[in-house]
Amino acid sequence: MTNVVVVGSQWGDEGKGKIVDWLSERADIVVRFQGGHNAGHTLVIDGISYKLSLLPSGIVRPGKIAVIGNGVVLDPHALLAEIEKLGAQGVKVTPENLRVADNATLILSLHRELDGMREDAASNSGTKIGTTRRGIGPAYEDKVGRRAIRVMDLADMETLPGKVDRILTHHNALRRGLGEKEVSHEAIMQELTSVADRVLPFRETVWELLDKQRRKGARILFEGAQGSLLDIDHGTYPFVTSSNTVAGQASAGSGMGPGALGYILGITKAYTTRVGEGPFPTELKDEIGQFLGEKGHEFGTVTGRKRRCGWFDAALVRQSVATNGITGIALTKLDVLDGLDELKICVGYMLDGEQIDHLPASQGAQARAEPIYVTLEGWKESTVGARSWADLPAQAIKYVRQVEELIGAPVALLSTSPERDDTILVTDPFED
Ligand code: GDP
Ligand code: IMO
Ligand code: MG
Repeated sequence: MTNVVVVGSQWGDEGKGKIVDWLSERADIVVRFQGGHNAGHTLVIDGISYKLSLLPSGIVRPGKIAVIGNGVVLDPHALLAEIEKLGAQGVKVTPENLRVADNATLILSLHRELDGMREDAASNSGTKIGTTRRGIGPAYEDKVGRRAIRVMDLADMETLPGKVDRILTHHNALRRGLGEKEVSHEAIMQELTSVADRVLPFRETVWELLDKQRRKGARILFEGAQGSLLDIDHGTYPFVTSSNTVAGQASAGSGMGPGALGYILGITKAYTTRVGEGPFPTELKDEIGQFLGEKGHEFGTVTGRKRRCGWFDAALVRQSVATNGITGIALTKLDVLDGLDELKICVGYMLDGEQIDHLPASQGAQARAEPIYVTLEGWKESTVGARSWADLPAQAIKYVRQVEELIGAPVALLSTSPERDDTILVTDPFED
């Protein structure tokens, strides 16, 4: 297929950055279509690590076009800081290789502040989400509430002041209610005008660019952020992010029709992790959880928080295969399981004395669901850096086959270390 959509099939941090980087060699354009700088995507190329939050992972490859689509919420200060940081690592970001949708929503300082205020208030009552405090939720609220400031507004000094008044009427009412200081019109105008000149050169009519490129036969790679279980509709609500993270959003979040999306590649970690609050049926609070966390370096790229770790949950990934329409998966971090005596995979749950095969939508039921496991023998050999099937021990192959069978999707790629080239190709998603 010409185009490929990469999505996380769990709670994020599955290794999307590594796989997008690997695949981007075969692509012409790499597009982010939702989320913002709550994402943390890590690429390791010849021992050098690049951490990207807003910029599509294709940015590190010369000759590719990186696109930030309209579905992204964009903090202009974060964008400029990331461009600068990459520049210091030798990656030049210019309007040649980066395009930003003129209809993307901006994250302002008041969004970040509101995110923090709400989380602080909720901490006292034990109801916090554990957000990244980047202002993601409040910015999406303003988008849907039709009071957001968008990229192209930075170029229109006629209409911008009225828009700032509109957003402030809402936010200052909230801030007064929370006992916080109000924000002045001048402060927001200053915040926006101070970045306008540096952001506007990247603006683009993205739907048109993609349409033209698609007609020319360009290969488009869509880079999802977060994971399907953090999806605002399909995730473990309310412990989710504020966007649709499933593959369908690649269309609405970029302006390219769904018929052209192509291969849907679900990035899937060989075990499960989650950052922040919320249900996690297969979580391991014992020494095995500790082992996975240490061996897998499971610390958040964005916030540095320790990621919670647990067994692979095939019931959840099977659900993601359905909600995304996953064609095949990239199984990552298999190497982290090396050395364990036995491995468990969750195949369904017991809920109030009944066996169920998917996690129910209700928060109470999610908290009560008890995983049902199958147990497999582990392997002692190292799989670190394996680059072919033949390098894998028999038990590791058995584990992979069991995963495929339980989730109902084949493994297209297998990753065995953070390094770009430690990747086994089974099926090329661009050729399938
Ligand atoms: P993303 O948010 O989905 O892009 O994932 P992150 O970059 O936040 O987290 C994945 C982490 O695992 C990163 O530190 C990667 O370098 C690392 N990683 C990716 N694939 C593998 C793998 O196959 N094995 C190991 N050991 N680490 C991996
Ligand atoms: P990548 O793209 C893992 C989680 C946060 C929190 C919830 C809501 O690196 O996989 P938000 O700030 O979005 O309102 O936080 O979502 N979260 C992620 N967890 N990986 C991510 O991105 C995440 N982005 C947000 O920890 O639980
Ligand atoms: Mg991440």
